[in-house]
Amino acid sequence: MKKVLLSFVVAIYSIVVFAQDDIILTGDVKKLAVHDSRLDISTTHAFVRIQVYSANVIRVRMSGQPFGDDFSYAVIVQPGDVDLSPAETGAAGGFSIAGSEITGNTITMPVLSTRSGATTSLTIAGTLTQSDQAILFHTDSLKVRITKRPFSISFYTPDDRPINEDETGLATSRIGTEVTTYKHLQQGERFIGLGEKTGPLDRRGKAYTNWNSDVFGYSVTQDPLYSTIPFYIGIHHGLQYGIFFDNSAQSSFNFGASNDRFSSFSARGGEMNYYFIYHSSVKDIIRSYTWLTGRMKMPPLWSLGYQQNRYSYYPDTEVYRIAHTLREKHLPADGITLDIHYMDHYKLFTWNKERFPDPKGMIDSLGKMGFKLTLIVDPGIKVEKGYPAYESGLQQNIFLKYPDGQPYTAEVWPGWCHFPDFTSGKGRAWWRQQVTGYTSLGVAGIWNDMNEIATWGQATPGNILFDYDGHPTTHLRGHNVFGLEMARSSYEGAREALQKRPFILSRAGYAGLQRYTALWTGDNRAEDDHMLAGVRLLTSLGLSGVAFSAMDVGGFTGNPTTGLYTRWMQLGAFIPYFRNHTQFNTKSAEPWSFGEETLDIARYYINLRYRLLPYLYSTFH
Ligand code: NOJ
Repeated sequence: MKKVLLSFVVAIYSIVVFAQDDIILTGDVKKLAVHDSRLDISTTHAFVRIQVYSANVIRVRMSGQPFGDDFSYAVIVQPGDVDLSPAETGAAGGFSIAGSEITGNTITMPVLSTRSGATTSLTIAGTLTQSDQAILFHTDSLKVRITKRPFSISFYTPDDRPINEDETGLATSRIGTEVTTYKHLQQGERFIGLGEKTGPLDRRGKAYTNWNSDVFGYSVTQDPLYSTIPFYIGIHHGLQYGIFFDNSAQSSFNFGASNDRFSSFSARGGEMNYYFIYHSSVKDIIRSYTWLTGRMKMPPLWSLGYQQNRYSYYPDTEVYRIAHTLREKHLPADGITLDIHYMDHYKLFTWNKERFPDPKGMIDSLGKMGFKLTLIVDPGIKVEKGYPAYESGLQQNIFLKYPDGQPYTAEVWPGWCHFPDFTSGKGRAWWRQQVTGYTSLGVAGIWNDMNEIATWGQATPGNILFDYDGHPTTHLRGHNVFGLEMARSSYEGAREALQKRPFILSRAGYAGLQRYTALWTGDNRAEDDHMLAGVRLLTSLGLSGVAFSAMDVGGFTGNPTTGLYTRWMQLGAFIPYFRNHTQFNTKSAEPWSFGEETLDIARYYINLRYRLLPYLYSTFH
């Protein structure tokens, strides 16, 4: 009997210990300190830091450990920075709370709120109060309530309507290294954004994963695709808010998928770290999101014209044939793009001398005809003795490595390759230098492909180390920012060398990618539903801060019917980056390849695009 009782007690004990190990809830608020515009809270199981960035933007950071160095590839502003872009509505400015120690239950915080564009700054009074149950404070745009037992955070309008509330009883918790925040699903709530995600624009009832993936010929419901933008907008009761979850590890979002209780966001590692944004319009929410993560640079005018492309135009005589035919057939066009066959055995930063004996001469001749050249680049550097990019990469120690110091090696176009660590300053500097080999020939655009990282097999090992700009980490956090930092390196290298705005295109990226690059939606299919899916993808990207986007017009895999191709060219006239592209071994897909009627229609719509160009260029500004 004693034995049975003992094993019962052990069983109960292990269930309790297991349960505690398994799900760690935040627990109760134990301590509060206020430093300028920041609240530091300790709870039973977490450290919480709430930072007012502006009257409309509040950051919530939570960790099981005391906070380390604050670092982000996405966010480029500091609390209180002023948004210099013109505000559409409401207060938009900086905010600071002066006063630090809490004496008694109430502190009054003089708040400086600077409206952008205003010549004078105005001072308003903000108040932080606390009772046994809650901590309350407000900015001139919203109210924040932190419930103490257990910890949860909710946001309200100045007239007390709930905008967004932690789900009572769930709030934020950790399971192993995974951290999740659960938000109360508001009645009728809908969700938009999250970047390059398939499916309807309204994401209610769906769940998504962020893990940049090489998805050749993806389906119109597939997830994830190539890039990660963990930013969405919730809409209910005539209110809207944004949440940007700045964690580059693999993340998941649930917008009431098979649950009627919460929306949630989680990451497989790192901190809970999100920015809550509230405005009275979706447009202003996106404006605040791009205030945080940066706005696109003005694209060069030529990159808004029509671009002719296929995988691949070679040799140079074929490139000339395409250029001349565009002119002969009176099809306005500004760009021609070269895919991987310009290289010597797909070795980056080389030219195939037989196919392209005089790259500079060709680029000059194309220039005289009014064409700019964009070249594809891939991150894989072939492991080959004597190949300059490989040798200098080794010598400058810029390749991603395993923990034992051996470079990571994987197979892609050229064979076995090493990959630059774009999250290290020296990796980016090396790449910038390599890119000048192209720009010095007159190359005006860099097309960054395969940067998810794509390798045959796609199973990038978890134990590759990334510098993460002095915050060493593993593949889990490095993966989703690799493409962003590659595009950044290409942008910075080309910008510096050309002393002009370059055109940069990328397949992969992370929040903030709009600062450096346009994004296209990769290997779509030449099928009707892909044209519609593409419109949704680009619209969702636009709602997520990426205005300069593209899909392969005509479809990448397979051969479009004449009807589909024609429609797609018509649609293309209204796509931010208008590029015709198709796969290797597909039929010709230039505008003249589908008969006279299609050619006439394509010409009409390309011309329409050119008539709209001054408007489009101004709109980009
Ligand atoms: C994959 C890209 O998505 C596609 O656009 C390109 O043509 C091929 N790689 C070959 O470079």
